[in-house]
Amino acid sequence: SLPVPSVQELVRNDPRSLPQRYIQLHTDRPLAPVMAMAPSSSDIPILDFALLAKGDQDETRKLDLACKEWGFFQIINHGVPEEVLLKMKAAIAAFFELPLEEKNKYVQAGNDFQGYGQGYVASEEQKLDWCDVLFLITLPHEIRNLKYWADTIPGFKDAIERYSKEAQKVAEEICANISLLMGMDKDGLQRSYGNTKQAMRMNYYPPCSRPDLVLGINRHSDPDIITLLLQDDEIPGLQIKHKDEWIPVKPIRNAIVVNVGDVMEILSNGMYKSIEHRAITDESKARLSVATFMFPDDELEIGPMEGAVDEHRPRMYGKMKYLDYLRYTLGRKIEGKAHLDNTL
Ligand code: SIN
Ligand code: FE2
Repeated sequence: SLPVPSVQELVRNDPRSLPQRYIQLHTDRPLAPVMAMAPSSSDIPILDFALLAKGDQDETRKLDLACKEWGFFQIINHGVPEEVLLKMKAAIAAFFELPLEEKNKYVQAGNDFQGYGQGYVASEEQKLDWCDVLFLITLPHEIRNLKYWADTIPGFKDAIERYSKEAQKVAEEICANISLLMGMDKDGLQRSYGNTKQAMRMNYYPPCSRPDLVLGINRHSDPDIITLLLQDDEIPGLQIKHKDEWIPVKPIRNAIVVNVGDVMEILSNGMYKSIEHRAITDESKARLSVATFMFPDDELEIGPMEGAVDEHRPRMYGKMKYLDYLRYTLGRKIEGKAHLDNTL
């Protein structure tokens, strides 16, 4: 990954600064600001997690449709205490409020993708995200690299630890429900992907004087099993590709946004969709979010599960070691999700 400057510092030095490398091609620019927040028929599904966990039939059917037709949904009643969510958001805010010299103590070292820096930068031509990032591997405990955990912020480690644990419970319950939907027992999916790791990408999107020209995060799909996103309660930004349109995901207080990742799409042989998404910026306010990824071991062979291939649904993907998949997809990140069409 190539080093690029902190966007937060660019804006701090000159609020109107807009280097060429951030200006999107016409086809990728956000068309209109997402200010109209009235409910519409094209809102992503909202699921009641408590009902799902009880095995409620209607809610389970909604989950199935959400994963097939949207690849994205929001969950309410997820049982994660509000205090845990608030402290997690406060921890991210506190980190990005640190002076640059302090944040630089946690900067990505060499080729490490953990730490403070920017998203994956593959080439000089790539349009850059209007975003600074702190990326941490959070589970299992043994592989945490605590040198990137900002221990000078009181409560930082504790906040992440508690949210990490809660997010893992929620992700596992959703995967258990998806297992049932795929015709297996609750542990079916888990058996096929084995032990998982968890990572968090904490995003800070500074305000931008020209939100019509830049993207907070370029279009991409997540190369994991499933992602949980905690987003700002007030400032919208996330947009997902649905039927060839960019649909804004309206913030719901204390809800968690969930999306199907590439690995789930592959395991389900394309039945469940990993959807392209992106984030736009706000003209006057910074936006925070944290994406929590659940991903398999590097050595896992990923390919469609046996039960997911039949005469109605021919095999759509070949087998590939997860690490190879990851390398392949990161190298092609600027093409959005095109790589998934090419893995057979
Ligand atoms: C992401 O896709 O990782 C972040 C999206 C967001 O900030 O809403
Ligand atoms: Fe994402």
